[in-house]
Amino acid sequence: MESVIGLVNTLQKTCTLLGDYGDDRSLPTLWDSLPTIVVLGGQSSGKSSVLESFVGRDFLPRGSGIVTRRPLILQLYKIDPGKEDYAQFLHTGDKKFIDFSMVRKEIQEETDRVTGKAKQISALPINLSIYSPNVVNLTLVDLPGLTKVAVEGQPESIVQEIENMVRSYVEKPNTIILAITPANQDLATSDAIKIAREVDPAGERTFGVLTKLDLMDKGTNALDVLEGRSYRLQHPWVGIVNRSQADINRNLDMIAARHREREFFATSPEYGHLASRMGSEYLAKLLSKHLESVIKARIPSLVSLINKTADELESDLTHFGRPVSIDEGAQLYTILELCRAFDRVFKEHLE
Ligand code: GDP
Ligand code: NA
Ligand code: MG
Repeated sequence: MESVIGLVNTLQKTCTLLGDYGDDRSLPTLWDSLPTIVVLGGQSSGKSSVLESFVGRDFLPRGSGIVTRRPLILQLYKIDPGKEDYAQFLHTGDKKFIDFSMVRKEIQEETDRVTGKAKQISALPINLSIYSPNVVNLTLVDLPGLTKVAVEGQPESIVQEIENMVRSYVEKPNTIILAITPANQDLATSDAIKIAREVDPAGERTFGVLTKLDLMDKGTNALDVLEGRSYRLQHPWVGIVNRSQADINRNLDMIAARHREREFFATSPEYGHLASRMGSEYLAKLLSKHLESVIKARIPSLVSLINKTADELESDLTHFGRPVSIDEGAQLYTILELCRAFDRVFKEHLE
């Protein structure tokens, strides 16, 4: 049986194809009800580093300024050990990317294709699937980092636009928030925590992540945060040590970085007692399990929404009658079939 995460991934792709995404719609739709993990954090808090560590590959665009300007829906699929990892985009069809530097290039180019050279932002998601023996089944949405200032060439309004886009995701009750804060910053000034607290005051759907534990001042530690005393969440906090800029410059391999992170916690006088619940590998597993359980709990309501969507599509098809082009009709028909297929598989999961 296919994993429930895989099923929701296909639904998410279907929504993207249908143009059902973003916040400028009046009615709640399938997109809004899909359980989603969203990465929330200020610029340079370590969002990209955490995602790359989940994948075990360098593949995200880097640079100063606002690099992420469209939502990136990152779908990870675990494949058998020994098989080679590869990536596929929704917008490039069956093309397989083996060279991950080309993945980075494609994200950049596809971002510019929609947002233009003026470096605007767009709510139209980029959909990327990665197949690897080094991942757990997991889906996350990377959003533009919260920022206080626009950089040269970008309109001042971009600061507010980013916040609006981020809010449109994290406000949804079905969104699981991965709130990222660097440990060398005061938690009280964290943008991620500020917004998470507003939209999820009880801390029920927020996972707190503390990056850059290796960069804390000598003599200080983050135990108050990691043990839940500074800011209490229903889920446990997870501490992370990603690659530093110097590590990246000397091309420190991601898998080596994972080992080093594990070593950091295992040998740490302060965090040793928490070692089994720290680090990016643990975080990925924790999120994967949580996402799966959330999806399972939502299967009944998803099934009824899928049926509704399928009915609407069917009436669209009838409605269009002759004017609809064969291509368009075929596309709608395929989507309709997809929806029906889901309905069947979801019901199997219920039994
Ligand atoms: P983003 O803007 O939130 O996506 O942040 P990045 O992941 O691009 O990280 C910003 C910078 O912080 C990069 O130079 C990273 O190497 C560095 N960085 C991120 N996490 C850590 C960490 O845990 N430890 C150290 N030493 N550096 C980190
Ligand atoms: Na932050
Ligand atoms: Mg980034």
